[in-house]
Amino acid sequence: MHSQLLVSEVLDTNAMTALIVSKDGTIEYMNKTYQYILGKREEDVIGKYIGDITPESRTLSVIKNGKAIVGYNWSINGYTMIACALPLIRNDEVCGCFAYSLFMDVLDAQDLVENIMRELNMYKEEVRNLHAARYSFADIVGRTPVIEEIKSLAEKAAEHPSITVLINGESGTGKELFAQAIHGVSNRSRMPFIRVNCAAIPEHLLEAELFGYEEGAFTGAKKGGSPGKFELAHGGTIFLDEIGEMSLAMQSKLLVFLQEREFERLGGHKTIRVNVRVIAATNRNLEEMISQKQFREDLFYRLNVLTLEIPPLRERIQDIPLIVEYFMPQLNLELKTRVSGISDEALAMLSQYSWPGNIRELVNALQRAMLLADMGNYPTITTKQLRFMKVVNPGEKAIASNTLKSLMRDYEKNILVQALAETKNNKAMAADILDIDVSSLYKKMKQYGLSVENA
Ligand SMILES: Nc1ncnc2c1ncn2[C@@H]1O[C@H](COP(=O)(O)OP(=O)(O)O)[C@@H](O)[C@H]1O
Ligand SMILES: [Mg+2]
Repeated sequence: MHSQLLVSEVLDTNAMTALIVSKDGTIEYMNKTYQYILGKREEDVIGKYIGDITPESRTLSVIKNGKAIVGYNWSINGYTMIACALPLIRNDEVCGCFAYSLFMDVLDAQDLVENIMRELNMYKEEVRNLHAARYSFADIVGRTPVIEEIKSLAEKAAEHPSITVLINGESGTGKELFAQAIHGVSNRSRMPFIRVNCAAIPEHLLEAELFGYEEGAFTGAKKGGSPGKFELAHGGTIFLDEIGEMSLAMQSKLLVFLQEREFERLGGHKTIRVNVRVIAATNRNLEEMISQKQFREDLFYRLNVLTLEIPPLRERIQDIPLIVEYFMPQLNLELKTRVSGISDEALAMLSQYSWPGNIRELVNALQRAMLLADMGNYPTITTKQLRFMKVVNPGEKAIASNTLKSLMRDYEKNILVQALAETKNNKAMAADILDIDVSSLYKKMKQYGLSVENA
């Protein structure tokens, strides 16, 4: 029979819970996943009254009203799921209820958020590239004295359209934002802002990328040749990002350009003059690189006309509330979430973290927390949505080599071990401390390879 097949093959999947209740509230069918969540066996539930098994069940009201309830939050034994309960109708009469939900563990939800984030950031990058420089100093959030000072210095730089600017700071501190703002408020703002990531382009291609080439300059060269980024930026600004990664040979060529302001395309003979402002950025300590002969001193002095030293976020944590306030409405629009604020405890938590990825990381953390809050129907961000942050203590260098997922797993495992140690392996007490169901505790212990026997 088709319905038999439906029940056995389709409904018995790990990915969902499924339940069929008859008109009088008797459980006729409950799939394995559901039994597992309840920590019950088939014989404990089949034929029983649903109100005795899960008193919060919506199935009874669906049977009474004959109306489906779609997409509600169903929390049980520490799992939160999105559920639907539909009336079963035979001969125009309600004869029972079919309820199901997507079964997602918190870690699965985190995975989901991770994937959404990755996609979102990819699109953001695309949009940013399309819109060249659209930023001004108003987009640079921060009221700490250092930031105010750097902003006014950068505004000065903007007034002098040909001055070379060097921006120094850790990744995610806003170097590119500053470069765009300088371009955006200068009289070059209607002309192109061209970014070249010196670290991303293979060394042998960088010269052609910057200076362009003529037809036949090398195998694979385009017919008719191609202009380089310096030519494309004519009249505007060229942003040489990650300049510390440029090879010494390329550094020499760049130096010549900065001295002469003219160049020839690869394989060409015509001298090309361009009028561009050069803004270079790096997260490396160039002076140290000079002493190790990795960076040319003369190039450094050419670039170091006006330098903006952007401090890491951990040195200006007073700006964190401001940054959160600035990004939240924007992110609500982007993510289609309705998060209205953040608790004081959560803010305090943000201030205690070391932010190795600086503002970029803060914005990403905020996005994650907002998605999690919204998925759980919480109006504001609390420490609950920031739990993923506790994984890394300030000063620990765990982030670079580990994925968020593996860090979270380690963290969760540690907590279990701790709780079990504290309770001398008493599962009921440990579950109680952790505020989860004993069956969830067992599940997690198995997942992490912790012995469930009493030692
Ligand atoms: N002061 C700031 N105010 C608002 N947003 C900022 C600020 N600094 C950085 N950001 C944001 O953080 C992210 C990283 O900035 P970016 O300029 O790309 O950093 P970097 O080039 O130093 O790696 C961007 O989304 C940027 O808009
Ligand atoms: Mg950058």
